[in-house]
Amino acid sequence: MKRSTAFVLAASLPGCLGAATPAADLANESAKASLKAKVDTCATCHGMKGQSISPQFPNLAAQTAPYIEAQLKSFKDQSRADPDAQAYMWGMAAQLNDGDISALAAYFAAQPAATGRSGTPQLIAQGKTLFEQGVPATGIPPCASCHGEHAQGMATFPRLAGQHAPYLLRQLLVIQSVLRTAPVMHGVIKNLTKDQMQAVVAYLESI
Ligand code: HEC
Ligand code: HEC
Repeated sequence: MKRSTAFVLAASLPGCLGAATPAADLANESAKASLKAKVDTCATCHGMKGQSISPQFPNLAAQTAPYIEAQLKSFKDQSRADPDAQAYMWGMAAQLNDGDISALAAYFAAQPAATGRSGTPQLIAQGKTLFEQGVPATGIPPCASCHGEHAQGMATFPRLAGQHAPYLLRQLLVIQSVLRTAPVMHGVIKNLTKDQMQAVVAYLESI
């Protein structure tokens, strides 16, 4: 009995070692196929390579990976709970594990950014001043101090450049009314008026 077990082990060992590389390739291929299937699902709303067509859906292309990860986790644990998050993203995120979340975040972060769209020059100029200087009179700090000089984002501070204005406006409104919990941002924009919001989002969409 002992001898035959040893024989089986010895006989199977070289085979196991020999199969290690193809097995790893296979696992790699299947991880790629599974990521692609997930990306295709996301693309129905967020667009091919994360550049969405409908302005109701945010671009994900070139968004920072840590921010994407944090948002997917907050949809999954239902702490980002504004109406559209519940309607569209809770179900999506529920199906993702931590590995999927980091693979999707890395994929979208690596896609080329959407290019800015033109808009009303006067509104854009007003929004640029607000973004760069804030509104000292009402205690609003410069947006650039967290989101970056070119709104390119950094770590968990999201990229805002080239994002659809209607999406950004909706987020400012749900953050201000605390339908979306974002304590830092809430404090920053609590005195921002609707006109100021419209100017800053027009600027951000244009760059
Ligand atoms: C049926 C449409 C739909 C699908 C499919 C979808 N999303 Fe979304 N996604 C949305 C909407 C709408 C929002 C904005 C939610 C809000 O306003 O709070 C959003 C928001 C997000 C955000 C937050 C973006 C930001 O700037 O804060 C991320 C990240 C995201 N989705 C990732 C994904 C990923 C990854 C997939 C695929 C696994 C996916 N989504 C599939 C509709 C969709
Ligand atoms: C003190 C740092 C800070 C400042 C200043 C700041 N933000 Fe933010 N902002 C954040 C953080 C952090 C988040 C991500 C919130 C979260 O995790 O849900 C965010 C999120 C946002 C979002 C949501 C983006 C998305 O993709 O859903 C918008 C829009 C936004 N900020 C606009 C602005 C504007 C406009 C200003 C200037 C008036 C500004 N922010 C100033 C830190 C800041």
